[in-house]
Amino acid sequence: MIPEVAGFSKLSKEQKIDWLTTHHFNQSQQAKNTLLTYWNSNQKLQQLHDEFSENVISNFYLPFSIAPNFTINNTRYSIPMTIEESSVVAAASKAAKFWNQRGGFKASVINTEKIGQVHFSFNGNFEKLHFFFSQIKPQLIESISTIQTNMKKRGGGLLNIELKDKTQKLKNYFQLHCTFDTIDAMGANFINTCLEQIAQVFQNEALQFDTFSKSEKHIEIIMSILSNYVPNCIVRAEVSCPIKDLPNTSELSSEDYAAKFVRAIEIAEKEPYRAVTHNKGIMNGVDAVVLATGNDFRAIEAGAHAYAAKDGQYASLTHASITNNILNYYIEIPLAIGTIGGLTRLHPMVKLALEILNKPNAKQLMKIIAVAGLAQNFGAVNSLITTGIQKGHMKMHLMNILNQHNATKTEKEKIIAYFIKNTVTHSEVLNQLALLRA
Ligand code: MEV
Repeated sequence: MIPEVAGFSKLSKEQKIDWLTTHHFNQSQQAKNTLLTYWNSNQKLQQLHDEFSENVISNFYLPFSIAPNFTINNTRYSIPMTIEESSVVAAASKAAKFWNQRGGFKASVINTEKIGQVHFSFNGNFEKLHFFFSQIKPQLIESISTIQTNMKKRGGGLLNIELKDKTQKLKNYFQLHCTFDTIDAMGANFINTCLEQIAQVFQNEALQFDTFSKSEKHIEIIMSILSNYVPNCIVRAEVSCPIKDLPNTSELSSEDYAAKFVRAIEIAEKEPYRAVTHNKGIMNGVDAVVLATGNDFRAIEAGAHAYAAKDGQYASLTHASITNNILNYYIEIPLAIGTIGGLTRLHPMVKLALEILNKPNAKQLMKIIAVAGLAQNFGAVNSLITTGIQKGHMKMHLMNILNQHNATKTEKEKIIAYFIKNTVTHSEVLNQLALLRA
């Protein structure tokens, strides 16, 4: 068994690597070399990365790509995408060009409300609790006035606090449900700081509230935390075009293409097994931009999937219909993101990504991310209903296999040429490589 280590966080980076490689590898020098290869020679930059997290021993690279030619509300964007999966950026770029010739993407922010909750237990009379809350509410708001100063200057801050009785779900369970506008910040720190302050004042004031019985005075705060479920922080992105402008091939007329496309989306609206994969494809685009712009993709993922299940069954985040021979196709997705705070000014690549996007505010970035999600879904569904997904995937997969086996430039060219007419399988690629090398 690996021995328990004491004070690991206090070891230097070199010592951490020594400990790790000694206890986890037979070839410890080789492992050390791999970790050291990924250190950045620019010490200042390395230190910056070391300080983003804890127990850092090296870096983990992801590709930083560009999907050009996106037209969103008549403005042209080149979208930075951080993603390791092959075909995603190619599909996004292709979709961007396709819709460019059909009026581009339209996007609008529907609302921007963020949510945080103080969860507490109260064993007593609800009428009295409600009365206490109505009396104390101005004081709760006042208690965060200093925390809110800057946010208010920017036009945001706490919107409201509501007392919610959740005892139908759980005995003695209540909430202070707080809503916020955090403008261009994702706002997690701001919201959590406000909530902890509100909780403390709420608890302390209850102790002094004469109407409460002795036991009622002891409100137990369980936790104070923002919610990543933001069903009122929604952005909509859409495209539309006459059916006659859709792909038209010998196998599929544009009318049949439109009908098949809508049918594929309807399946994802009704069938959870398909919906999960359908939305996964959307998140390929969404997460890639979220990551490149320094936002929290776990928060976005959690919120998007919860929203996809809002009507009681997990369903597609995109929708499509045909009216008067026009295909209308849209996404609605919750996106609680920021363009200030967090990593946005710290991480040089994030800063660069935001510059590529012409320094968007949060609302503009919400629109760009939603468009990336819609474009990705279009690319996936388009492939699925026509050539099938494997054709494009295997082309990129081929490159990964060739790189894994250190293929030279000439080897790559010859093998790519061979697979234009042959089906890519892992074994056949190795076979061709072996033949070339023999
Ligand atoms: C693969 O990463 C994503 C897809 O499976 C999405 C989809 O099926 O819609 C291609």
